[in-house]
Amino acid sequence: MAHVIVGVTGGIAAYKAAELVSLLGKQGHEVRCIMTSAAQQFITPLTLQTLSGNPVYTDMFHPQDNMEWQVEHIGLARWADCVLIVPATADFIGKVAHGLADDFLSTCVMATAAPVIFAPAMNDQMYANPIVQRNIATLREAGYRFVDPVDGNLACGTSGKGKMASPGEIAAVLETLREQDLRGLKIVVTAGPTREAIDPVRFMTNHSSGKMGYAIARQAANRGADVVLVSGPSAQPVPSGVTVVKVASARDMFEAVKAQYDAADVVIKAAAVADYRPKTVATQKIKKSEGDMVLELERNPDILAWLGEHKKHQILMGFAAETNDVREHALGKLARKHLDFIAANDVTMSHSGFGKDTNQITVYGADGRVHELPVLAKEAAADQLLNLVLEKYQSKKALS
Ligand SMILES: Cc1cc2nc3c(=O)[nH]c(=O)nc-3n(C[C@H](O)[C@H](O)[C@H](O)COP(=O)(O)O)c2cc1C
Repeated sequence: MAHVIVGVTGGIAAYKAAELVSLLGKQGHEVRCIMTSAAQQFITPLTLQTLSGNPVYTDMFHPQDNMEWQVEHIGLARWADCVLIVPATADFIGKVAHGLADDFLSTCVMATAAPVIFAPAMNDQMYANPIVQRNIATLREAGYRFVDPVDGNLACGTSGKGKMASPGEIAAVLETLREQDLRGLKIVVTAGPTREAIDPVRFMTNHSSGKMGYAIARQAANRGADVVLVSGPSAQPVPSGVTVVKVASARDMFEAVKAQYDAADVVIKAAAVADYRPKTVATQKIKKSEGDMVLELERNPDILAWLGEHKKHQILMGFAAETNDVREHALGKLARKHLDFIAANDVTMSHSGFGKDTNQITVYGADGRVHELPVLAKEAAADQLLNLVLEKYQSKKALS
């Protein structure tokens, strides 16, 4: 449901981070772990790697080979919906309270815009120490959140306030993070490419990975919307809480979207739908011959145009993935297809488009407003698009 970073620092309670990671995974969250050097004295990265199913980040200066991001700690900071520091040592709390960023975890915490929640765990005298308390107060003032430790038997043999909250309590905090501002809205999102069969073994398709549409679906569900994702073939994991309708061809997608349309409040069409399909689909594998071959294509239905023509109460957002004259193409599509918004991007840019984790989108509204979004992680871009849709929905509702 959410992208969660679990940052583990060097306290005895580090073993409970393993339980938390396992719990978050079971709840459908995608978890990535960062460990301080001291944390690795208590549990191994292998444990957290196995439980999270992802590499564990330990060293700012020696990136993991299998990472998709250029600068890992910044990439992770952007990726996160939430950062949990479990356990949080006195040392790490002090470090962040003073703006220090000298390892992977502290740098990532400093760089993230996501909520950061500390679960302190330490000896009761350490926790009561006025300097630790002052650091906690500084962090609270700056907007950081805490799951307070409880009274109990401590590993150091004493008893008092310093025992970390249970993994269950820490996980429960996630539920309170996202404002459920899309609750009550039914949002249909399309994503991915389509496949147009040539014969039983071949098809035509495009480079769409589905990442943008899946990010929209995930964020909309996180914000409480009832989401149906109509997806062409995509390797993206299905976001939890989202109903997925899997399709292959443009015509399949058309039927699936039509079936959802009356009940939808919002349709966001992020799929890259093939404009053409082979006129005939060979029933048997086409054999090669000596000469060239001509494939005759015919038009696919224009799903977005149909939705525009049949629009009643729905808010419609289309996407224009262009390689040239982005603005002109986008504005033409906005008007021709009776859309409320068109989200345009230049897919030739290095940070935008197919398969990338970031996108730079300009949104043109039917009201003439233009929203130029910066380069954003696709999740963050998705949130911005959903904000525009929500604003439109609320203003329509206020008028009716
Ligand atoms: C056995 C042992 C247990 C420790 N437990 C804690 C603890 O529960 N809480 C804490 O704040 N520090 C604890 N420490 C001290 C931290 O490991 C130490 O402050 C370390 O520098 C923290 O590094 P980090 O904040 O970068 O992870 C413990 C140290 C040892 C040797």
